[in-house]
Amino acid sequence: MIGIFDSGIGGLGVASQIRKKAPRADLVYFGDFANMPYGPRKTEELLELTLHAMKFLKSQGATQFVAACNCLSVAVIAPLADLFEIPKTRVIEMVAPTVRAVCKRTRGKILIAATLATVRSGIYELAFTQHGLSAESIALPKLAEAIERQASGSELEEIISPAVQKAIDIHAKLLVFGCTQFPFARSVFSHMFEERGYEIELFDPSDVVADEAVKTFNVEGEGLNTFFVSKSSCVFNQTVFDLFGSDSIIREIVID
Ligand code: DGL
Repeated sequence: MIGIFDSGIGGLGVASQIRKKAPRADLVYFGDFANMPYGPRKTEELLELTLHAMKFLKSQGATQFVAACNCLSVAVIAPLADLFEIPKTRVIEMVAPTVRAVCKRTRGKILIAATLATVRSGIYELAFTQHGLSAESIALPKLAEAIERQASGSELEEIISPAVQKAIDIHAKLLVFGCTQFPFARSVFSHMFEERGYEIELFDPSDVVADEAVKTFNVEGEGLNTFFVSKSSCVFNQTVFDLFGSDSIIREIVID
């Protein structure tokens, strides 16, 4: 069983891609709404939250994991895999598959739009530089939470505006959604670039992360979908129904 976790709806993008590519895979998802947003948190806190999420998913039968949250890639996944004695091949995170895929698509300048924790870590710039590419990042600290509460188009535009301006200023050829919630505002990003007459590729990592999971994990099961949240969320319910069907069951749990 594959355990997928994130602070909210973000990881559902990855989960739905896994479901499309591997119809028989058994999936169990945990959205940690009680502790959303993760972006402003320190590494120690993120480590603790990851520990709780993985422990819970393991108790539900998960033996393979996808940390569908970029800010958990930072110094979190590797130590936890050691702690649980889970081989590293059993934990997939967002950054490595994204960097590999983007390097194949462009040699031009890259802009990563992400949360504070991811931007502070410099993890993407480091990885792209190691591959000989030039990359800069920008934090959009309010965006994940605004997407989760279905903020208006004009509020989203205001929050996204610094990233659009920066992409234009640095002549970026590709923008990476370095936070799994951000692709849910894809149409707002593309509208804003179109309005300014600026051509840029918007890269959503969900697809390549799902590819990595399907390639690496055992995906032969009964095609089960199970969803857990640490606090109920209407947006989560609606997104699950849209992506996985309205008969999906979502349970609220308390994690101590
Ligand atoms: N989904 C997370 C990511 O990809 C962050 C969202 C949050 O701040 O909770 O980084």
